[in-house]
Formats: sequence, C-alpha cells, structure tokens
Amino acid sequence: MGQQPGQGRFISLEGIDGAGKSSHLDAIEQRLTATGREVVRTREPGGTPLAESLRALVLNAPMDPLTESLLVFAARRDHVVQVIQPALARGAVVLCDRFTDATFAYQGAGRGFDLDVLQTLERWVQQQEAGAALLQPELTLWFDVAPEVAAERLAGARLPDRFEAQPAEFFRRVRDGYARRAAQEPDRFARIDGGVRREAVWAQVEAALQERGWLN
Ligand code: TYD
Repeated sequence: MGQQPGQGRFISLEGIDGAGKSSHLDAIEQRLTATGREVVRTREPGGTPLAESLRALVLNAPMDPLTESLLVFAARRDHVVQVIQPALARGAVVLCDRFTDATFAYQGAGRGFDLDVLQTLERWVQQQEAGAALLQPELTLWFDVAPEVAAERLAGARLPDRFEAQPAEFFRRVRDGYARRAAQEPDRFARIDGGVRREAVWAQVEAALQERGWLN
C-alpha cells in the first residue's frame, strides 16, 4: 500500500494513450472538491516548471530508453518534492494524471527497459529514507481498453507525440505492463473498463471512489 503522509490522499490515473482517462479528470476533480477537500490536480511527466520542461523533451526529442527513464524519474523527483509531498502533508487530495506505473508500463514493458533499474530508480525517487515505505498512490484508476479501440480514438486527433506514434504492438505490451502492475498490487488498482460508453465508464470511476468512502 502507498504511504500517505498527513491526512492526504494520493490518486493516480493510468492507461494506454487513447484509453479515455483525461475525459474524466474534470468530473473526478469536481466530485472530490465537493467533499470540501483541497484537490491538487497535476500530471506526469510534469507538474512543476522543471518537470514540464523535461516533459517536452521526453515527448518530442529522440533519445534512448535509459535517457528516457532517467528523465521521467528526474521529473518525478522534482514533482514529488515540490508538489506531491507538500500537498499530502497538508491533507490535500492529489489527483495525478499518470505516475510511476506509467514508467513500468511504457519504458519497462513498452520499450523493454530493465525493470530492476526502474525499481532502483523508483526507490531513489519515492523513498523518503532507508527502510521507509515507498510513496505510491493509494488508489490507481487504471483505464483499460483494447489497443485497437484506443488507436481508433487517437486517429486524426492531433499530431502524435513519440509515444502516440508507436505501433499497436507497443501498446499491447504497455497494456500488459499495466496488467502486471495491477496484479502485483490488486488493492491499489481499480480496473476501469474503458471500452464501454462514456457514462458507463464514469459509473465505474464513481463506484471506485464511493467504495472507499471518498465521496459525499
Ligand atoms: P498523456 O498522459 O497521455 O498526456 P496527453 O493526454 O497530454 O497526451 O501523455 C504522456 C505520455 O508520456 C504518454 O504517452 C505516456 C508517457 N509516459 C511515459 O512514457 N513514462 C512515464 O513515466 C509517464 C508518466 C508518461
């Protein structure tokens, strides 16, 4: 389980490109804000000026998988230190569009980069001190959709970045990567079937939050 400093609550959203997670962010933010809590909505890579600069590079500049992994974790470190930890410490709800599961899914499963190295970086970036629990989301809403469906949704939407431009096979591996992370931490992950109509997707998101007693 994720470590929750203060009374904060850390929620992440994950899924392959085109899974539809972004279209529910506004509604999630509104529902959580309606409970009277401060909600900090943020994203990865990104969430601070430094991390947003790294995001532009990661999404657009050609680089090898090690460089890519180091940059997403460098961005994450800055984000954790500057935004996430302070927000959790003051009791806010952090609503984060992607976190470390994306690195295991995209750089690990998708690019085939060494999972042991990723685990080491995860520890460096998300562990406060030796022996302490890793900072992880308390809930990860995993929008799961078949790569073919996601590709259809993305088609013609805008100029694809380095990830969106990948072939269907890449997204099959990324999806498998998410499935493995979910199997390792079934209590943290809520799998949302993203292949159904929008209202039915929303109902699953609401149920996941309701189940935990996080809505009014
Ligand atoms: P995304 O979250 O889909 O934002 P947008 O909706 O604006 O496209 O884009 C971020 C991309 O970065 C996405 O393709 C996944 C990728 N990514 C990684 O490869 N590794 C990571 O650790 C993170 C956080 C994201």
